Amino acid sequence: MVIHLLKKQLRNILEQNDPDTAVFEANQLLQWATGLDRSALMLETEIDDTAAEKAVNAARRRVKGEPLQYIVGEWEFFRLPFKVGEGVLIPRPETETLVELALERLPENGVLVDLCSGSGCIPIAAAKNSNVLCYGVEISEAATAYFKENISLNGVQNTVFPMQGDVLEPTEELFSALPEKCDIITANPPYLTAEEMENLQREVRHEPDTALFGGRDGLDFYRVIFGKWKKLLKSGGSFIVEIGEEQSQDVQAFMEREGFSCEIFKDLNGAKRVAVGKLL
Ligand SMILES: C[S@@+](CC[C@H](N)C(=O)[O-])C[C@H]1O[C@@H](n2cnc3c(N)ncnc32)[C@H](O)[C@@H]1O
Repeated sequence: MVIHLLKKQLRNILEQNDPDTAVFEANQLLQWATGLDRSALMLETEIDDTAAEKAVNAARRRVKGEPLQYIVGEWEFFRLPFKVGEGVLIPRPETETLVELALERLPENGVLVDLCSGSGCIPIAAAKNSNVLCYGVEISEAATAYFKENISLNGVQNTVFPMQGDVLEPTEELFSALPEKCDIITANPPYLTAEEMENLQREVRHEPDTALFGGRDGLDFYRVIFGKWKKLLKSGGSFIVEIGEEQSQDVQAFMEREGFSCEIFKDLNGAKRVAVGKLL
């Protein structure tokens, strides 16, 4: 099929979803369906019918609300590739702020423990950009499978170690599989409220509830994790968590109650997004 006609057909379909993103998404789907990158595609005038059909079917799925990231199966975070699909949260750009704050605080040859790891984007990005050892704890089997795949994809088998476990009820067995002490604990836990869960964007409804819902007021994880996990932190170590825009005061209070000093940082959009607790 002639490529410019296919592009037009894809754009027409995708505009039903969002005219502002139709061109970008048409290009993404074309690259995925053909296996060609952007510059290689520009040199082509025709693409074979199988790839064209694959791209058109994908555009139709997209218009029904399936996230683009799940359709193409891979997404970038911190300039690294991550496999994603049903059962795992798509890494968000806001979370890069948390990774940057962790990298600034990690000592040479340090140890980082990440709670609620999902795709593994936080520990994998930290390991790729420093010389630390990273451990990640995740409850969902489906998400852990992606986490392991992403460790191989990014070649960090010797520095990132995935564990399956419940961070709200950590067992002695889980603690004994982790280092006795670490320099940094990171977490991007589920933090949406019951009300926010009622009003989710169509795409976000495809993502697992276990990755999103943080209890009626969204704060269930923050109420528990600082107390249950601080024994793992070295004195002076940092607990770094992503938060919802309206949660900074509550999270600060939870941290201070557990003996941390707390500082709040904004993401690139100016939203209060990360709380950094230093163990006093
Ligand atoms: C908001 S997502 C964050 C995923 C990933 N860290 C990221 O930033 O993209 C929260 C993750 O916590 C996991 N989770 C939910 N409850 C948990 C629990 N009790 N213990 C461990 N992980 C849990 C979910 O399966 C999900 O992968």
